[in-house]
Amino acid sequence: MSKRTEIQTILEDFKPRVGQELTVMGWVRAFRSNRFIALNDGTSMGTLQVVVDFEQIPEDVLKQVSFHACIKATGKLVESQGAGQDVELLADTVEILGAANPEEYPMQPKAQSLEFLREKAHFRMRTNTFSAVFRIRHGIAYAVHKYFNDNGYFYMHTPIITGSDAEGAGEMFRVTNLDVSNPPRTEEGEVNFKEDFFEKPTNLTVSGQLQAEIGALALGKVYTFGPTFRAENSNTSRHLAEFWMIEPEVAFYDIFDNMDLAEDFCKYLINHILENYSAELEFLDQRIQNLEKNMPKNERRAMGLIETLRFVVDNDFERITYTDAVNILRNSKPYKKGKFEYDVKWGKDLQAEHERYLVEKKFQKPVIVRDYPASIKAFYMRMNDEQEGVPGKTVAAMDVLFPGIGEVIGGSQREERLDVLKARMADMNVHEEELWWYLELRKFGGAPHAGFGLGFERMVQFITGMGNIRDVIAFPRTPGNAEF
Ligand code: 4AD
Ligand code: MG
Repeated sequence: MSKRTEIQTILEDFKPRVGQELTVMGWVRAFRSNRFIALNDGTSMGTLQVVVDFEQIPEDVLKQVSFHACIKATGKLVESQGAGQDVELLADTVEILGAANPEEYPMQPKAQSLEFLREKAHFRMRTNTFSAVFRIRHGIAYAVHKYFNDNGYFYMHTPIITGSDAEGAGEMFRVTNLDVSNPPRTEEGEVNFKEDFFEKPTNLTVSGQLQAEIGALALGKVYTFGPTFRAENSNTSRHLAEFWMIEPEVAFYDIFDNMDLAEDFCKYLINHILENYSAELEFLDQRIQNLEKNMPKNERRAMGLIETLRFVVDNDFERITYTDAVNILRNSKPYKKGKFEYDVKWGKDLQAEHERYLVEKKFQKPVIVRDYPASIKAFYMRMNDEQEGVPGKTVAAMDVLFPGIGEVIGGSQREERLDVLKARMADMNVHEEELWWYLELRKFGGAPHAGFGLGFERMVQFITGMGNIRDVIAFPRTPGNAEF
């Protein structure tokens, strides 16, 4: 293949290239008047106008220049005569690298529903919307590593296959190479995992936290960024069975340091995209405005996408305790009018509708809720001292709630006191034998420490304004769906 010039490179700095002979390759977005090809190669939102001369380019080639066909064009870059673009390529040769017969190709040069495009996940990345989303997704992932690297954290790879259930919620996918139709049995008739690959039951990890704690108690500041798996049967626009999580874990941090880190980190990620992906954001912002044009006013977003992102970066997150949240909710209009589906009562978990009220109605900005009832949170969270005006035991847990998304981060200070942790595990039926190493971390050289998990796709959703989490991961895994 001869050397190609990327379209982004041409568009961003065209002056020195005018007059040069260039080769470009990409996918046809439009072909007007048998003469003007809008070509996109995925490097940016921009298309390059390729001008073809039907006297010079064979007819059978021109016939194949159709929507999303892949072509290679060589010619001179000139300043454009027409409005709408600075430069265009006058093609001397056009080669079809991959035709896309419009009679058979499922994608069409018009708006197609996101649901339809989900079934065409092998083609949807060629659209403006999805290419923008996936470029931004990359940008956020890059910013994650940059943030932690620049702040002295070490990237740690925690295992995908594990024997422990970090969250204790029992929502795990089993990993086995036993013959599931005829597994070996013990004398009692139970499946004999001693004969399984790892000689014990194993599953796909729900979180890398417990192992990240090992890293934090040696390297001080670590983070993980990997896939996590949850077999929860929630068919919502916020849940995936396979999603990516970022989990920083820091020695000598308490819950307040943890909240500061979470806020700073979120703002950094958003800022990075505001600064580096403005064309994508403008496109996605406009997309939402177009979608909302026909909606009643009260269903539209209060602010545009870019405006929302700026607002989040420029303002402090609200910080309240769970007990405050319950009081606010019980005194709220929707509660008094019986508008919430789920009851609000100290000791019960907050539901999405409650979180949305706090974030979107009450405070109208991100909210960090902390000090949740111990009974509804995981075994590893640090037990708080009793507090006045708080009716039950709480742990130093924190959830970061975002407008339109709800929970993007869940985290806590960890229980570092061996006796308290043991009592808590016994209470919650977490077996000490499985987590012997976790307990030894408290016994030998332990320290106060804290961390959190950011749901990567939820952050991508927030930044791109995509309503459904299935549209911010290339190949979503949800109940009943593992295509591609
Ligand atoms: O709140 P979670 O369950 O916290 C943990 O797993 C902790 N071990 C993290 C830690 O302290 N290191 O999950 C963390 C985040 C949630 O706030 C949410 O953003 C995301 O992960 N998340 C999901 N995202 C997509 N699909 C799902 N099914 C998710 N479940 C959680
Ligand atoms: Mg959570």
